[in-house]
Amino acid sequence: MSTYRILFLGDIVGKPGRKAVKEGLPSLQDSLQPLFTIVNGENSAGGVGITPDIAEELFQQHVDAITLGNHAYNKRDIYSYLDLNKPIVRPENVPESCPGRGHTSVTKDGIELMVINICGRVFLDGYDDPFACIDRVLAQARTPHILLDFHAEATSEKIAMGYYLEGRVTAVLGTHTHVTTADETILEGGTAYITDVGMCGPVNSVLGMDRTIILERFRTTLPARFEVANESGVISAVVIDVRKDTGRAESIERVRFSTAGTL
Ligand SMILES: [Fe+2]
Ligand SMILES: [Fe+2]
Repeated sequence: MSTYRILFLGDIVGKPGRKAVKEGLPSLQDSLQPLFTIVNGENSAGGVGITPDIAEELFQQHVDAITLGNHAYNKRDIYSYLDLNKPIVRPENVPESCPGRGHTSVTKDGIELMVINICGRVFLDGYDDPFACIDRVLAQARTPHILLDFHAEATSEKIAMGYYLEGRVTAVLGTHTHVTTADETILEGGTAYITDVGMCGPVNSVLGMDRTIILERFRTTLPARFEVANESGVISAVVIDVRKDTGRAESIERVRFSTAGTL
């Protein structure tokens, strides 16, 4: 039985996140030999959103698809780029008139991998029912190789989505909270699951942001402009082994990596 590998990197946050990916991804790809590398890029431009230049830079680094999230539309110049038919996906459950699309397909070595981005709606406003949404998308699937980046805040909603899709997709990977959870598992029927992959971004920070500013905000409740922490970054990712014939996952492992030193 033969398998292939997917490497998925959590939310890339600002310059430290991009730098960690630029410096660390080549050696990770070298040692892990993934067939597909997928990244969440929703925070890659200054902590919120993504620009066409950054997306292109990621594709040049052998990234096969980019997923987004609630910050998909923070940078205006990405709007037309999202309509260019490139493998970059914004949440599927936004109004249909929004630029871009919520799922895409990438084919390599004869394997067609469908990549889907959906936002949760607990503590996140403006998104349609993610469960009905995934049913609609899966009804169009032409491949058993399916990865869902479920970009959601509530742990319960993410776990529920994992169970909803067990045995139906290759992987349900949580993003958005920027903190890696230690619950990676293979659900019944061969679906890889983790509540949150964590971020690619500055370690000494509050979810990627400058800790002094965030602390001040909590202590004073006064408005403050968030800034990405000027600290060295780390890559948080998962690596998944998948059966080529069935698209079902055999294993999922967390990866935490930095060229700056051991963590
Ligand atoms: Fe994020
Ligand atoms: Fe997010």
